[in-house]
Amino acid sequence: MTPEQIDLLKAADKAALNAYAPYSKFRVGAAVLTDKGVFDGANIENACTNLGTCAERVALSHAHMHKCSSIIGIAISCIDATKDASGKAEINQIMPCGACRQWLNELAPNAWIVASGSKRVFSLSDLLPAPFTLSRE
Ligand code: THU
Repeated sequence: MTPEQIDLLKAADKAALNAYAPYSKFRVGAAVLTDKGVFDGANIENACTNLGTCAERVALSHAHMHKCSSIIGIAISCIDATKDASGKAEINQIMPCGACRQWLNELAPNAWIVASGSKRVFSLSDLLPAPFTLSRE
């Protein structure tokens, strides 16, 4: 992992502290590195469960609102993920959900993806090998 990936993970850890997760108690933070700097997001839940949104989508929206033309990378931190005896987070709890993978395909298809607790650097094709895509102008 590069120093900028490690720094982005720290920004995602910090963003997770701003999550609104009173139902799941599972706080997630995300940070995206762009040509206009770093933009963060956290999951925001709702009493009407399916109206909640994920940290990654908040961060990607935040970046889009600042007219970023390229998203270089995204870091995700699930600070409440279950840890094993050695303190390592469960891999299945720290990876982006399917909807967020589809959002990455839309707004950040070439971004590297790192998750707090995994040393591996993913590309979107690792996580979403056959995405649904429409041609656009
Ligand atoms: N969550 C995220 O923020 N990102 C993901 O990729 C997976 C799940 C949130 C949604 C919900 O608020 C909580 O984690 C538990 O599912």
